[in-house]
Amino acid sequence: MTAFERLAVYRRLVESNKACVPPFSFGECKDGRVCDEVLEGWKHAREATRLRGGRSIYVHVPFCRERRCSFCMYSSSVDYNEIDLKRYRDRILREFGAWQEMFSEPIRNFYVGGGTPSVYSASQLAVLLSPFSRLEVEPLGERTCEMSPSTATTDHIAAIAKCGFNRISLGVQSFDPKVTRAVNREFSEKAHVRQLCEYARALSFVDVNLDFMLGLPFVAEDNLRDAVQAVRECGALSASFYYWRQATVPRRRLEWELAIVCDEMDKCGWEFVSGAQNTEHHLFFSPERRKDTFRFVTSSNCIDNEQVIGLGTHAHGFRPSISYSCDSENTYKMWCMSQEMQLKMAAANILYHHDNVIDKRSFASAFGLEFSDLFRDEISALHGMNMVEEDETEFRLVCKDNIESIAAQKFFWDASYLKRQYGVG
Ligand SMILES: C[S@@+](CC[C@H](N)C(=O)[O-])C[C@H]1O[C@@H](n2cnc3c(N)ncnc32)[C@H](O)[C@@H]1O
Ligand code: SF4
Repeated sequence: MTAFERLAVYRRLVESNKACVPPFSFGECKDGRVCDEVLEGWKHAREATRLRGGRSIYVHVPFCRERRCSFCMYSSSVDYNEIDLKRYRDRILREFGAWQEMFSEPIRNFYVGGGTPSVYSASQLAVLLSPFSRLEVEPLGERTCEMSPSTATTDHIAAIAKCGFNRISLGVQSFDPKVTRAVNREFSEKAHVRQLCEYARALSFVDVNLDFMLGLPFVAEDNLRDAVQAVRECGALSASFYYWRQATVPRRRLEWELAIVCDEMDKCGWEFVSGAQNTEHHLFFSPERRKDTFRFVTSSNCIDNEQVIGLGTHAHGFRPSISYSCDSENTYKMWCMSQEMQLKMAAANILYHHDNVIDKRSFASAFGLEFSDLFRDEISALHGMNMVEEDETEFRLVCKDNIESIAAQKFFWDASYLKRQYGVG
């Protein structure tokens, strides 16, 4: 395959939502024992966090109900059954058990995301999460569970409250059925979201957050102002507005939408607090939201702070500057991959998280290898397509839109991985 054809394949995969952004994970052996490499990674993270202070745990639930929203960049499957759910739950608990044998210090934050944790029934979710209630979390730490209002019930909220959770994040994305239909998402009525928020607040959650996406189709100024008003009507304590990564709309459109949201929030006395830069997450606090908790704002903000232990497939886990990728099938294979493959994955991740720029010096000091030597062929192919600008210190991908950018990041992946994973190449 020529470089041009390869780029076209990546582009198709991204567009069809089959290849999401570079995924990340710690893995697990097929026989159910947590890999030695995973334990090594955890030890390493422990050393790193000793220097930096604080460590968080992220648990990934890689399932969504019935269909995937077309904008979504997270790893999840709709193709599973009750047995898969149970098997996955047991796997998480084994990973947690192994982690507990190694560590006893309190953690900073605990975050369960996905996917959609509320695909588990309330009672199954309690089985999955109750062992974590023994986790000692620092006094200002948050214990968050993400849910989608289309699957969440007050029973789910009661179950997580019993397991010690003090924060819930509900993905609304849009309160306009025309918009949700256009992005293949199940619509949730405002009244239901309000009921969930009120219930969580009655249980004294420190935060009740609603997520929205910017850049979706059919959005006009009125929708955005209405969304802000709806956040208030529902009684949420915070709201997150995400720039849609991979959006085909121009950046200035996203900025225009955000400016309207900021204006409306400002009128209501809500404060804009910074979100995670690498996911372009814009977070707003209501006047009643406590300001002093340690925020672990999203599940994707870990690449820079090197302090998250990821449990489960496609969770984020750390060794400095490298995160690992796998899927539920070939988790173990991934851990057996060569260091070269891991570096390829790391390069894609760094480009993704750093606006398509690689600082050559930092790369060399993190990995002990020169970026230009390691990726000579890829760089030359991308040069051939006029997609690179570089000098002594920086390598920069030049892409005409977000989709091309994500496709080009995947250029650094091993072609054999794509073949195995997607049957192309
Ligand atoms: C793991 S997801 C969703 C949780 C839950 N499954 C739901 O949909 O309600 C967390 C949040 O990430 C945001 N998100 C998903 N895909 C995104 C993308 N491509 N770009 C930016 N934000 C995204 C959405 O706002 C979503 O609520
Ligand atoms: S936005 Fe939520 S429900 Fe939609 S595909 Fe992504 S994780 Fe699943």
